[in-house]
Amino acid sequence: MNPYDFVDANRKDFIEELKELLRIPSISTMSEHKGDVRRAAEWLKAHLESIGMARVALYETPGNPIVYAEWMEAGDAPTVLIYGHYDVQPADDADNLWLSDPFEPEVRDGSLYARGATDDKGQTFTQIKAIQSLLANGQVPVNVKFIIEGEEESGSTNLYPFVEQHTDLLAADVVIVSDTSILGLDRPSIVVGLRGIVSLEIEVRGPSYDLHSGMYGGLVQNPAQALVQILAAMHDEHGHIMVPGFYDNVREVDETERAELAKAPFTLERLQRETGVRVAWGEPEYAPHERIGIRPTLEFNGLVSGWTGEGGKTVLPAKALAKVTCRLVPDQSPDEIYRKIRDYVAAITPETVTSEVRKLHEGMWAVVDTESAYMQAAVRAYEFGFGKRPIFMREGGSIPIVGTFQQHLGAPVILMGFGLPDDGLHGPNEKYSLHCFDRGMKTAIKFYEELGG
Ligand code: BES
Ligand code: MN
Ligand code: MN
Repeated sequence: MNPYDFVDANRKDFIEELKELLRIPSISTMSEHKGDVRRAAEWLKAHLESIGMARVALYETPGNPIVYAEWMEAGDAPTVLIYGHYDVQPADDADNLWLSDPFEPEVRDGSLYARGATDDKGQTFTQIKAIQSLLANGQVPVNVKFIIEGEEESGSTNLYPFVEQHTDLLAADVVIVSDTSILGLDRPSIVVGLRGIVSLEIEVRGPSYDLHSGMYGGLVQNPAQALVQILAAMHDEHGHIMVPGFYDNVREVDETERAELAKAPFTLERLQRETGVRVAWGEPEYAPHERIGIRPTLEFNGLVSGWTGEGGKTVLPAKALAKVTCRLVPDQSPDEIYRKIRDYVAAITPETVTSEVRKLHEGMWAVVDTESAYMQAAVRAYEFGFGKRPIFMREGGSIPIVGTFQQHLGAPVILMGFGLPDDGLHGPNEKYSLHCFDRGMKTAIKFYEELGG
């Protein structure tokens, strides 16, 4: 049976199988889910074996296992390495916004709702099912390797050394990553740039224990107040980052590329619809899509200090903590940005408290080649799968391992994403459109046929 008919004939089973994977709460950022993370890896291993992949194995790391599989019977045809991640974000629901259980997948209005539906179990599964459909046909036009990790949402810390130490195992002509979004079902697009990231904690300490704020307030500097003073010195009122040298290595994007990227504008209407925010913010000299795509940021992800429970407590806290991430663009170096922030914080910390800046994890930005033959094949494949020629766009999010693939495997990366902008990744009611699932499988099959043919 030809692979496209195989997809059509097996759609129902595919969805039921994906639901099984989505039921496993493989949250890599929470240690209590360690067992679930492993169960997801084992589920994938068994699944890849069942579709006929060879050399299926779990590679142990100090963290979560890496799932590997291959099918290398295509002789001289190109080898593709397909990357995905089976770990997911937490699905806390303090505001009761999930309409169904995040780990009991449910189909509503043509979409499958669950944590990980789009990010990244559903998209990884789209690739697996595309390969299965080719295998069932008895003829896969390319050599295939899968690498599916369980730590993407916590910074891919153990995948970096794995890739560096297994360049032969992972050697490929092209790397395929399905972990991004298109602009719309009728507006296919291919992500050609991802931002890098550096994740930090800034801690300010004062007295050796929490004090009575009446007995000492006014005489002892409050670490929470010192921290917000430090944080307030990070941006000016237009959103420019004030850390000395922060923009030193930011590469200007040329006019040709700015014009290409302007084909995917981020409208105020879209911002309002997706976020509930009424007015945009940020560097006035850059268009909204540029603030996300080509400019770096420094964000406060969380602030912790003092009493945050019910009612009041007159306390002068001993310490205050800020969780911070920077999104980085070419040619910024995550470690250099960490050191610049560390030095700036040291310089502006008042002598009445002490401060420390700790790095949690980092990932490189990535820019992909739009001219390669692989990209041209991807463009044709989207045109086939979605009925329209895709445009190129840059994404503000990060996939930390992409830069490492480019650097250590020397292979071009194609970000073959099938999510939609309103899929709600990391938020409540995450979903994956079944149209995207369907068209994604057909796009991927077409791409592999183009490469092999
Ligand atoms: N799949 C996302 C990356 C992404 C975000 C693609 C938005 C398309 C749109 C990925 O799983 C992710 O969430 N990455 C993290 C990386 C971090 C935890 C190191 C991110 O961008 O915050
Ligand atoms: Mn992802
Ligand atoms: Mn994610």
